[in-house]
Order: sequence, then C-alpha cells, then structure tokens
Amino acid sequence: METIGIFYGSTYGMTERSARQIQENFGKENAQLFNLKDATIDDMKKFKNLIFGTSAWGIGEMQDEWEMAIDSLSNINFEGKKVALFGLGDQKEYPESFVDGLGTLYCRLPDKSCVVGFWPVDGYDYYFSLADKDGKFVGLVLDDHNQEEFSKQRISDWVKQLKEEFI
Ligand SMILES: Cc1cc2nc3c(=O)[nH]c(=O)nc-3n(C[C@H](O)[C@H](O)[C@H](O)COP(=O)(O)O)c2cc1C
Repeated sequence: METIGIFYGSTYGMTERSARQIQENFGKENAQLFNLKDATIDDMKKFKNLIFGTSAWGIGEMQDEWEMAIDSLSNINFEGKKVALFGLGDQKEYPESFVDGLGTLYCRLPDKSCVVGFWPVDGYDYYFSLADKDGKFVGLVLDDHNQEEFSKQRISDWVKQLKEEFI
C-alpha cells in the first residue's frame, strides 16, 4: 500500500489524538501525520492515499483550519487518489448537527469520486447529521465525549477497511 498522509484540524486536541491512533493502526512507517495549521497543499499533493479529519463547530462548520484550507483543495488533482474522511462530534450536546463538520468537509471536496471509507450509522444516537448521506456516514465518526469506549475498535475496523480500499 502507498504511504498515507493524514491531515487534521483540531481545536482542543481531540481530533489530533484520534489522528494519532489512526496512524498507529496503519503503523507509523506507513502513515505520516500533518496538523493542518502547519501543512501546505504541496504536502497533500505528495500522497495517493489521503485521510482528512475534522471536528464540528457551530452550524455546519468544520474546524477552523479546514475552513481556511478548504478552497485551496481545488489546486489538487485528485485523479488517481483515494481520500478517506473522519470526524469528531458530540451526539448528546449536538444531536441536531452531529458531526456536521465531517458532512461539510465531504460536501466541499472538489472531487467526491475518490472518497472511500464510508461508515455505518448504527450505534449512534442523533436526530440529524450532514455527514449522514443515504443512511451511511461519509467517513468514520468518533464521539469521545459519549462513546470513548467504542473508539479504539471503530478505528481498528475502519483502518482494516481502508487497507482494502486504499491504493
Ligand atoms: C462551541 C462548540 C460547538 C460545537 N458544535 C458541534 C456540533 O455542531 N456538532 C457536533 O457533533 N459537535 C460539536 N461540538 C463538539 C466538538 O466537535 C467536539 O468537542 C470535538 O471532539 C472537538 O475536537 P477538537 O478538540 O479536535 O477540535 C462543538 C463544541 C463546541 C465547544
């Protein structure tokens, strides 16, 4: 499998922690980690396999660094690449906008045909989520506020899935 670039935006470090766990599941030699605030579009261009992670803020908002970076994704040629997404949120406090940052990230990707890593909605409790498309999440969903005990297994299962779906 080609090396993976994991790019995340994280305000209080929760998405960063999940990104590290995802990296560890692939093995550090197989996946490189980038905090978006220190990364460039040229860093993203280098990878055939990409993982983008964001938390959720406000109404449909991605984490701040993604809000700033999203428009420049149009400078990347996604042909021949695979992109997987993951999102963090809080289904108890924000059940009407659960992991909306993830949904917005998906919506605003310039090329959705390269997206892999869709994830079942079973096991979560929410009223509405922009990340729920036709009964599937557009990427891995983690809620370390209310379901931290499931995160390790969810990450492990998702990484196994990506090992099949990545290039
Ligand atoms: C002001 C505020 C707004 C939030 N809005 C949402 C939201 O709409 N949907 C959601 O699922 N989580 C929401 N969250 C929860 C964060 O996404 C969650 O705490 C996340 O784990 C933070 O990750 P980070 O530290 O990596 O940024 C919100 C949190 C705060 C403090």
